[in-house]
Amino acid sequence: MEVYNDIQSVQRKVNSLIREGKSIGFVPTMGYLHEGHENLLKAARKENDFVILSIFVNPLQFGDGEDLDHYPRDEEHDRKTAEKNGVDLIFLPTNDIMYPNPLSIEMTVTRRADVLCGRSRPGHFEGVVTVLAKLFNICRPNRAYFGMKDAQQVAVVDALIQDYNFPVELIPVPTVRESDGLAKSSRNVNLTEKERHQAPAIQKGLQIGRKMVEEGVQDPEQVKEATRQFLESETRGKIDYIELLSYPDLKPVDHINQQVILATAVFFERARLIDNVVFNQKSRASKG
Ligand code: PAJ
Repeated sequence: MEVYNDIQSVQRKVNSLIREGKSIGFVPTMGYLHEGHENLLKAARKENDFVILSIFVNPLQFGDGEDLDHYPRDEEHDRKTAEKNGVDLIFLPTNDIMYPNPLSIEMTVTRRADVLCGRSRPGHFEGVVTVLAKLFNICRPNRAYFGMKDAQQVAVVDALIQDYNFPVELIPVPTVRESDGLAKSSRNVNLTEKERHQAPAIQKGLQIGRKMVEEGVQDPEQVKEATRQFLESETRGKIDYIELLSYPDLKPVDHINQQVILATAVFFERARLIDNVVFNQKSRASKG
C-alpha cells in the first residue's frame, strides 16, 4: 500500500494507471474509519483494479462553532483498516497541500442544499463540492463511493458530477448500523453513555414514519409529526430538523407518491447525529 501526502505523487501514479487501462475506485473520507467506511472500501475493491482512499478533514465544510477541532483522528488505525480492506493508495494531504492559497474561484450549490443539513450548516456543501472537485481532478476515478448515511451529500455530489461533467460514476452504498440500529459514525464516540443509549431511537423514529407511509398515509406532516413525537419521548437530544422530501431532488412534497427521504438531525451535548430512510411508497423498496 502506497501512502502519499503530496499531490504530484498521486498524479504520477494515476497517470500510469490510466496509461495501463486500469480502473480506479475512489473512497473520499475524513478518516477515523469505521465499518461504514469499510463497506465503501469493500465495494470499491470488488469493482475496480485500483483503490484510492483519501483521508482529509476538510476545514472548508465546517462552520463556526462546529466540531472541526474535536473531529476524531487516528492515523495508525486508519492505515491498518485500509490495508485490511485492500486499499492500494492512501492520499493523506495537509491543509497547506490542499489549500496552499486562498481560492480565487468559489463554488456555490444552488439546488439540493437549501434543505436538511444544508439549511442548518450554511456553506457546508460548498466546502464538500470544492474539496471533491479537487479530489476528483487529482485521483481521476472511474467510480466514487459515497454512503447513503449522508443521503443529501449523495444528491449534491450527483449534481456536481452532472453539472460539471466529471467522468465519474457515483456509487451510493447503504448505511451500516450498530446492532441496535444506530448508524455508524465517527461522531458516535462523542456521545455520553446515556446519549448512546437513547441514540438508536433516531432510526426507530424514522422507521415509524416509513411504516405509516407503507400503510397508506400520504400526508408528510402526519409522518413528520409521528417521528417527532417518538424522538421527543425517547431522547433528550434537541431536534435540529425532521423533513420529508422527494429524493434525490430534495423538493417539498404535499402528497407522498414518489421516492422520498425522511431525514432528521439531532443535537446531543457534543455530537450532532443525522440519519435518514429513503423509500418508495409504491415499490416499498428501500435504500440506505
Ligand atoms: P466522512 O464523514 O468521513 O464519510 C466518508 C464516507 O463514508 C461518506 O460517503 C459517508 O456517507 C460514508 N459513511 C459514513 N458513515 C457511514 C455508514 N454508517 N454507512 C455507510 N457509509 C457511511 O462524508 C465525508 O466524510 C466528507 O463530506 C467527504 C465526502 C470526505 C468530503 O470531505
